[in-house]
Amino acid sequence: MSDKVNITIDGKQVSAETGTNLVKVAHANGFFIPSLCYYDHIDPPLGTCRVCTCKIDGHIRQACTEQVHDGMEVEINTDELADIRQAIVEMMFSEGNHFCPGCQKSGNCDLQHLGYEMGLSHLRFPHLFKNELIDFEPKRMILEHNRCVKCARCVVEVLTDDQKQVFSFCNRGNETVVGIDYDEEAKLTDEQAAEAMHLCPTGAIIVRGLSYVEPFGERKFDLHSVNPRRQDEPQKSERPPGPRKKKTVATISLAGCFGCHMSMLDNDLKLFEVMELIEFNKSPLNDIKEFTQQCDLGLIEGGCCNSDNVEVLREFRRSCDILVCVGECAIWGGLPAMRNLIPLRECLEEAYLNGITIDPGEAVVPYDEDLPKILDKVYACNEVVHIDHYIPGCPPNADHIWKTVSNLLWGDQYSILYSDFKYD
Ligand code: SF4
Ligand code: SF4
Ligand code: FES
Repeated sequence: MSDKVNITIDGKQVSAETGTNLVKVAHANGFFIPSLCYYDHIDPPLGTCRVCTCKIDGHIRQACTEQVHDGMEVEINTDELADIRQAIVEMMFSEGNHFCPGCQKSGNCDLQHLGYEMGLSHLRFPHLFKNELIDFEPKRMILEHNRCVKCARCVVEVLTDDQKQVFSFCNRGNETVVGIDYDEEAKLTDEQAAEAMHLCPTGAIIVRGLSYVEPFGERKFDLHSVNPRRQDEPQKSERPPGPRKKKTVATISLAGCFGCHMSMLDNDLKLFEVMELIEFNKSPLNDIKEFTQQCDLGLIEGGCCNSDNVEVLREFRRSCDILVCVGECAIWGGLPAMRNLIPLRECLEEAYLNGITIDPGEAVVPYDEDLPKILDKVYACNEVVHIDHYIPGCPPNADHIWKTVSNLLWGDQYSILYSDFKYD
């Protein structure tokens, strides 16, 4: 009897050894099934994250716990399934506190990587902004609970030489966290501790001295997508021939650092080309402070941290036909949104009353009716007005920004290579 079975993946006939894991078979045949908790060495597979959700023999199931059998029918790439998988990943981002640009796992993080693969630019769910304590007690490790997705990889796979568990789940339901046994952690060799950090698909397990050691360009997900469908995407940025009408563009920096504006200027000689095609209206680039006409496009940097930001953003929505968020702060709040983890009163007290730079006798929270009113938290732009498009990055690079703008204004084709749109 043959050990081979025939299965169908997205309509294509594929043959494989009977009993092989479906995720492996799919990858071996050029199909990408996103996965997070799935790990080659863990058998049986954990099946905890559901990121690998596919339709198998007509039923929605997770692929990583399935073994192929003869006649199996698998659907991966449908709009419905892609949306289900993306919603699951979005929930992970909204439940944790993920600030990729400052995270030690950035570039090596499976969760971050999935976000890029799925083209996540914002979340449909509100951020929970949980504030779990970070555990610095273990001998070599730091446990950042706010990044843990409870995949259980560490729980089943990180063992001491005498087979004792180092990690285990504590509490129940929504309060579940991964606990670490300090005594057992101290027994791990340096290699085993490093392995635990690499095993974790997020930045929840960090080993002191091992973060940021790999230079940019050499990290696991730096250059290429693992999705075979994306790896060889062609770059299509050729401009169609013929004259083009000059367009008007407005830009503004709200609660941002001006880094995205700096990036817009970081285009060397191509800026001359931009200036020929674009007339800037209200913008800090030309210091025009008021709109003088309806604009074709508005570029927004930064989210909304005060009443002035909200007013300006609404004005941009009214005055620009197409409104685009540029950079992470505009898209989801970015670094300024770190204050959302702390009550506003405490932020103000720390900044104006108790900070080490405050002179005794000068401690006062500034108030004047002309000052913009600070908001209870930093809001992403799409929480205030409708946003048409998003350009992710911190900051996005200049080439990317202007190619996107020319795509939106003149319909130039622009297919973004994986290495072009991956930022951290
Ligand atoms: S754990 Fe991953 S997704 Fe979360 S902040 Fe770090 S790099 Fe980003
Ligand atoms: S600490 Fe890492 S490996 Fe362990 S459950 Fe959390 S995300 Fe998974
Ligand atoms: S990868 Fe399949 S459930 Fe997590």
